[in-house]
Order: sequence, then structure tokens, then C-alpha cells
Amino acid sequence: MASLASLATSLLLASSVSANTISFNIARNAGAESAQLERRQLSLSTAPLLKRAGTVNAQLTNAEVEGLYFANVSVGTPGQNLALQIDTGSSDVWVPASTASLCSNAKEGGCPNGAFTSGKSKTFDIVEQNGFNISYVDGTGSTGDYFQDTFSIGGASLNNFQMGLATDTTIGTGIMGIGYNTSEANLDTTDGGNGTEYPNLPLAMVNAGAINSAAYSLWLNDLQATSGSILFGGVDTDKYTGDLISVKVYPDSQGGQTTSFTVAFTSLSATSSSGTDQLTPANYAEAAILDSGTTITLLPDDVATAVFEELGATVSQELGAVVVPCSLAENTGYLTYGFGGTGGPQIKVQVSQLVLPLTLTNGRTPTYTNGETACQLGVQAADGLPVLFGDTFLRSAYVVYDLENNRIALAQTDFNSTSSNVVSFASLGAPIPSATTAANEDQVTQTATGIPKVETSGTATGSAAATYNPTATGFSAASGFAATSTSTSTSSSKKSAAGSGPEPFAWSRVVVAGVSLALAGVGGGVFALL
Ligand SMILES: *[C@@H]1O[C@H](CO)[C@@H](O)[C@H](O)[C@H]1NC(C)=O
Ligand SMILES: *[C@@H]1O[C@H](CO)[C@@H](O)[C@H](O)[C@H]1NC(C)=O
Ligand SMILES: *[C@@H]1O[C@H](CO)[C@@H](O)[C@H](O)[C@H]1NC(C)=O
Ligand SMILES: *[C@@H]1O[C@H](CO)[C@@H](O)[C@H](O)[C@H]1NC(C)=O
Ligand SMILES: *[C@@H]1O[C@H](CO)[C@@H](O)[C@H](O)[C@H]1NC(C)=O
Repeated sequence: MASLASLATSLLLASSVSANTISFNIARNAGAESAQLERRQLSLSTAPLLKRAGTVNAQLTNAEVEGLYFANVSVGTPGQNLALQIDTGSSDVWVPASTASLCSNAKEGGCPNGAFTSGKSKTFDIVEQNGFNISYVDGTGSTGDYFQDTFSIGGASLNNFQMGLATDTTIGTGIMGIGYNTSEANLDTTDGGNGTEYPNLPLAMVNAGAINSAAYSLWLNDLQATSGSILFGGVDTDKYTGDLISVKVYPDSQGGQTTSFTVAFTSLSATSSSGTDQLTPANYAEAAILDSGTTITLLPDDVATAVFEELGATVSQELGAVVVPCSLAENTGYLTYGFGGTGGPQIKVQVSQLVLPLTLTNGRTPTYTNGETACQLGVQAADGLPVLFGDTFLRSAYVVYDLENNRIALAQTDFNSTSSNVVSFASLGAPIPSATTAANEDQVTQTATGIPKVETSGTATGSAAATYNPTATGFSAASGFAATSTSTSTSSSKKSAAGSGPEPFAWSRVVVAGVSLALAGVGGGVFALL
């Protein structure tokens, strides 16, 4: 609970340093993930705007579109209000232009979170006409101009901040990319960028003296909760339990630049009432990108297969989703993800955090033939895409992104924490406050292919994953979650535990038009935004 002492400490801290932190609370709607297969109008939740000495708190909203996290911002003079999606997987802030054809096309969803009218801002300035062109892994994108204008978020205001103005876009909501400046869209010369790096949001906050170092902490809170927060320039030690441990961010295999939040994912196990199964072999290491702009988690294919067997999940080509009985949400088991080798951070993700509603575009919910409702599992196989740890992982972790030192610190999140103890980065490039370093991370090295591997005495060459056979480790579905499900309606999952797999869907209840629309929705919803 919030002690008066901890509040007093953070107030003291806040006023004893010239620049420190900017915090935005996040609100999210329950059941947001159902919108993965169903685009619909956003509804923003109300939350207070707080400002206290030296720190700035505002609200982020988790909107229904794709279950992602949103921030209220204002752009221009006088300020025009927009909500932008928070994305650690990209590096430009852009807003839809009110002249973009999508914004006047309500049938296509319009621009429900606001659009920017440059002619109404007294401080608008073009940086580069037609210089903005961004595309995301799901095939969506925006093009237009780079411009500078006043940008305000939670009471903090940046003058002449560079953004993209999307005069042509397939995404109706602007995006607040907060990744490395090395990933700015204009550095991609293949699409007409001129290669000039500019200070993006974390750096502009440093330049403005609002924070000390280009770093922020993200606390998304749990699937049922309606609030979380992003804190620029500091760590809130009341938002996690156990130790906050940092690991390396790996540079790209080619070019050697650090462009994404790539960490070494080094172990995964599954624990149920019947015990723990190791789902990765010894000395495992795989590159994984932490990406708040992706709603689910994409695991290496063989590891994903082991998780599916463990949880009694089936891959439905027809639905374009991995499905589980919704009763799995009552299971008390969990997955444990490890990073940075032995002694690195370990994050437990409760199975209940992985069971997402599955709603077809026609509003129906698919069911198994025994009548049990089908849900979507928040884990899929990467299947050619990068390994991405999205919101179904990130919600369970408190994650500090340090862009100056190329480090990520992780701790087990403290769901629903209501107290706060903010510690700011002491200075530019100072280490992550309150964090220790993973003890054996130096054993995890990067290979020529960019995939980290664990250095051991003469073993484990190449990608461990490529040769790993989950069944060879003694893993069996019978010891998995399905067999020990605590749910009351287990007939299909029990069958899965016995090896026959869940019963097929009652296809008569799935309208064909709904299914194909659902598949169309998957491209934009599940594999959102690298
Ligand atoms: C965001 O802005 C909208 C519209 O201006 C407002 O209704 C909503 O309460 C705000 N949300 C938060 C979380 O501040
Ligand atoms: C944007 O970049 C893509 C390639 O990434 C290119 O095909 C497209 O023509 C570019 N669009 C504009 C308007 O420059
Ligand atoms: C390149 O971009 C910078 C800022 O991003 C802009 O000032 C400059 O005019 C651009 N140069 C060219 C040749 O387009
Ligand atoms: C890009 O980021 C690096 C690391 O934070 C920083 O040192 C550099 O000054 C940045 N470049 C610009 C143009 O802001
Ligand atoms: C957090 O709060 C939500 C909503 O009040 C609740 O449904 C959920 O169970 C809570 N989570 C934990 C871990 O206590």
C-alpha cells in the first residue's frame, strides 16, 4: 500500500533534482483483445491528470482497437487533442492529418482518436515535404511530411518537436513510437528517407530538460485491470516485486547498430500443480524483441509448439488463431520466461493472462462441439516473423528501457499496485536506478546471424532452437496443464491431455463470412507494428 513515507520520499526526490521524470498512467478496457478480430470504435476511459513538483503524470488509455495502449497528447498552438498508440517497436511519433482520406471515411473506421489540422496551428513548421514514410510488419503504414510543432503530453510540453504528418494512411490512429532513434523511418533510404537522424521523443525530453536520460519504464498491469503507467526518466520501485535485473540489448547482426529492444531469451518452463516442465533445452538462447505495439507473443516455432501441447491449445487455420477452451483462464499454472542466462531475470506469466476472448466480426464466439467457448491463446508461433514479446508477456513484467546504455531491466510486475516510489535516473547515461546486472549474461554472445547463443565449453554451436525436440526432454502433454485443469468443463481439454487433441469446432456456428473477415482482421490486429 502507498505509505505516506514513500510518497514523501518521491516528492523530496522530485524537488531535489532539476530534471527527473514524466509519468503517464495507462488505462485499458477489459476485453480489449476481443477487438483483435473486430475493429470497432475506441472508447477512452476517464482518468485524472496529475502534476506534482518536478514530475508530470498523465493518463494512457488502452483502447479497444487491437487491445493496445494509448496516450492523450496535444499537438500545435492552440493544442489539438489526440490519443496516440504507445509503441516501443518503432521510433517516430506521427499524427493523422485531418485531410487524410481515411479520416473522412467512417466506413473504414475514420480517425476515431483525432486528426491534426496543420493550418490551425500557429507554431506549425514543415521539416521535410513528403519526407515521412513508415510501414509496419503487418503491412499497414503512413506517408506524408515531417513537421515540427509543440507537443504536449501530461502537462510536459516540447517546442519544435519533430513528428510525421500522415496525409495518406491505412491506420486511423497516430502512433507514438518511442524506440531507438536509429530506427526512425527517415533513415530507411529505400523508401525515400534522407538519412538524417533527429531527436525522437525520449531524446527530445532529455534535450528539453524534462528527464535526465533517454529511458522509461512501462507497467501495463494485468488483463483485468484498467490502469497502468509509463514513466519517462525513472523507475517506480513500488510497481514490481523481487529484484529488478538488467540484461543487454543486442545490436543488429548486420551493421552492428542497436535498432530494436532485442534481448536474449534463454529459458521457458511451465508449472502446474503436477510440477514443472522445461520447454527449452539447456544453454538455450534466442533473440526476442520486446514490443508493446504487438498484442500477443510470438515464440520460436518449436517452443510455441511445446507451449501449445502443454496448454492443450490448437492452431486453427480457419480462425487464424491459436485456440484454447476459455475455461483455461481458471487454471492456476504459469509459464516462467528467463533472460540473459542463469541468474538473469525470470518472469512468471500466469496462464490466466494468456487467455484472450475470441470474437468474430459477426459478433459471435466460436465454440467447441461440446459447447465450450473457445478463446484465443496469447502466444503464437513466429512462423517467419521475428520473435516478439508483446503485451501478453509485457503485462506480467515491469520493464525499464534504457536507450542510453542499451540495457533492459525486468522484474515481476506488481499487479494493481496503488503506491508509488519514483527514483529518477541520476544523469545522462547513469545506470538504471535500483537495478542489478544479470550475473552470467556475458556467457550469452551474439552470433553472426544476430541470434544470441550461450557460450559453454565446446557445446551449443549454432541455434539451439533449430535442433531442439521438445519431446526428447521428457516433456509430455499428460503432465501439462490440460490434465490438471481446475475448470469445471474439461471434457475437451481432458481429451487433449490424453493425446487426441481438443474436439473440432462446431463449424455450423461459425458463419463463413465472419471467418474470412476475421482472417482479414488478423493481419492488422495480431501482428501489429514491429
Ligand atoms: C483523453 O481525452 C479524452 C478526450 O479529450 C477524454 O475524454 C479522456 O478522459 C482522456 N483520457 C485520459 C485517460 O486522460
Ligand atoms: C514508401 O516506401 C515504400 C517502400 O518501403 C514505397 O514502396 C512507397 O512508394 C513509398 N511511398 C511514398 C509515398 O514515398
Ligand atoms: C533531410 O532531413 C532534414 C531533417 O530531417 C531536413 O532539414 C533536410 O532539409 C532534408 N534534406 C533533404 C535534402 O531533403
Ligand atoms: C540518437 O541517440 C543516441 C543515443 O541516445 C544519442 O547519443 C544521439 O545524440 C541521438 N541523435 C540525435 C540526433 O538525437
Ligand atoms: C487487479 O484488478 C482487477 C480489477 O479490479 C482484478 O480483476 C484483478 O483480479 C486484479 N489482479 C490481481 C492480480 O489482483
